[in-house]
Amino acid sequence: MNTQHLKKIAAEKATEEIRPGMVVGLGTGSTVYYALLKIGTLVRAGLDIVGIPTSEGTERIATAQGIPLSTLTAHPTINLTIDGADEADLHLNLIKGGGAALVREKIIANVSQRILIVVDESKCARCLGTTYPLPVEIVQFGWEATQRAVNQLCGHSILRGGDEHPLVTDNGNYILDCDFSPVGGITEPAKVEGALNNIPGVVENGLFVNRADKVIVGAAAGLRYMEKNS
Ligand code: A5P
Repeated sequence: MNTQHLKKIAAEKATEEIRPGMVVGLGTGSTVYYALLKIGTLVRAGLDIVGIPTSEGTERIATAQGIPLSTLTAHPTINLTIDGADEADLHLNLIKGGGAALVREKIIANVSQRILIVVDESKCARCLGTTYPLPVEIVQFGWEATQRAVNQLCGHSILRGGDEHPLVTDNGNYILDCDFSPVGGITEPAKVEGALNNIPGVVENGLFVNRADKVIVGAAAGLRYMEKNS
């Protein structure tokens, strides 16, 4: 089975938890893309929901699909969020931000009553940060100083897009991709999440600790589930 199929079955499974009248957080990425297509089909068939997108990219896809969109101003609480991840460990802790949407994703996650994460099996990790770098969003001003401080924690990071053409996020910031593999990965995610966010210039990092309620894994052998407190 190819990876796209695994992403699709996980994403479509998550949409089964959507109920009429819900405010739905719409994540970002190539896995959530399949959820957006499915939600679009359901909406066109009469499902009454409103979506809050986590990125401008998702906003464009959702709009094209005819999904009614709103804002956190109008809907401060989200009933259900469906989002992807770059890595998920057995405790449902995550690395997110490969699609540069981590700030809005974490804001949405923070006001969500239930969070479903959809991944293919290649995203499952024993220890976070061993196979995927941790994205950290930083403000442009003084970014080199911020990078030096971030490197004290992870050892090495690169500016996404490179010095010549750095990637600029939806929020007008840069992203550092931090390689924790030389230090054996991220063994204490909560501690690292807090320490990074304590550095002046850091806006947010892609560690999502104790936030997901369920991870739906598309695997060659079928769907697998990891649930909070199970
Ligand atoms: C967006 O910033 C990310 O958090 C994505 O949710 C994550 O990178 C997963 O994306 P894919 O589903 O494309 O792998």
